[in-house]
Amino acid sequence: MKSTALAHPNIALIKYWGNRDHDLRIPVNGSFSMNLEGLSAKTQVVFNESLREDKLILNKKAISGAGLVRVSQILDEVRLKANVNLFAEVVSENNFPTGAGIASSAAAFSALALSASKAAGLELDEKELSILARHGSGSACRSVPSGFVEWTNGETDKNSYSFSLAPPEHWDLADCIAVVSGDHKEIGSTQGHRIAETSPLQAARVADAPRRIEICREAILKRDFETFASIVEQDSDLMHAVMMTSNPALFYWHPSTLHVMKSVRTWRRQGVPVCYTIDAGPNVHVITLKEKMNEVKEKLDSLDGVQKTLTATVGGAARLI
Ligand code: PMV
Repeated sequence: MKSTALAHPNIALIKYWGNRDHDLRIPVNGSFSMNLEGLSAKTQVVFNESLREDKLILNKKAISGAGLVRVSQILDEVRLKANVNLFAEVVSENNFPTGAGIASSAAAFSALALSASKAAGLELDEKELSILARHGSGSACRSVPSGFVEWTNGETDKNSYSFSLAPPEHWDLADCIAVVSGDHKEIGSTQGHRIAETSPLQAARVADAPRRIEICREAILKRDFETFASIVEQDSDLMHAVMMTSNPALFYWHPSTLHVMKSVRTWRRQGVPVCYTIDAGPNVHVITLKEKMNEVKEKLDSLDGVQKTLTATVGGAARLI
């Protein structure tokens, strides 16, 4: 009873911030993302009679406490569905640095959902896998399908899941991730979702989400970079405005973050197809066309405060290996 799966992290183009149901991770608004090719988490699950408890080894280190509990909850769900009552060993590895502003939990829980269900003998379809991954980390449900992905917020556990809007080859985009700090964030997204509604701006952000979703969907389908750039930046700025005005206030930006944001806007005015988006951390994801990826990476590397720039193109679905 053993299986290994690989999944890519994803970058949100329209952000998920705040839950309707915190335990089930049902979001207050829908979101969009693209998977990041070249960056991945590989997760092996073995259900084994000799184990007396679940075990988690992450990047070669044994993990206990909250991290293990979160993984065991997904394993419990799989055990219940498959009628299996064995403990499991989970060995997971990322090929990208932690603290680089890339949500490792999205790739890890998506790979875990696939490998654990397969190892237990289940044949879950994409929607069921997406729901299972969502229970571990909301954004993980977007790493299950391929390419450009939409997560409909839904109202219940069964109708909050992700699907592919377009395959990776639909649009040759790239993500240049400008790393300005490798520090571990003090308040992670699970806690952040819980306090989102303490910001007086959150209600307006959520009410306007269907408009942004619609514009982003059309821009992706028409490969309209100009419209895409302005809606992606507006959506990221809206989420950070909520973060900065919640209680406690979450201020993820560093001075270098703002320096990169301003530079990106200047380059766009000069005709370079670029836009920025920032998750719950200081590092800046700069989206561009694949043909401009190396040029944009060089520009970012030359900015003061940028420690390094990682690059990724649009990636495929979570898969067994
Ligand atoms: O899936 P979580 O709980 O790590 O939340 C992700 C939150 C953001 O990365 C900030 C936005 C998103 O949609 O990915």
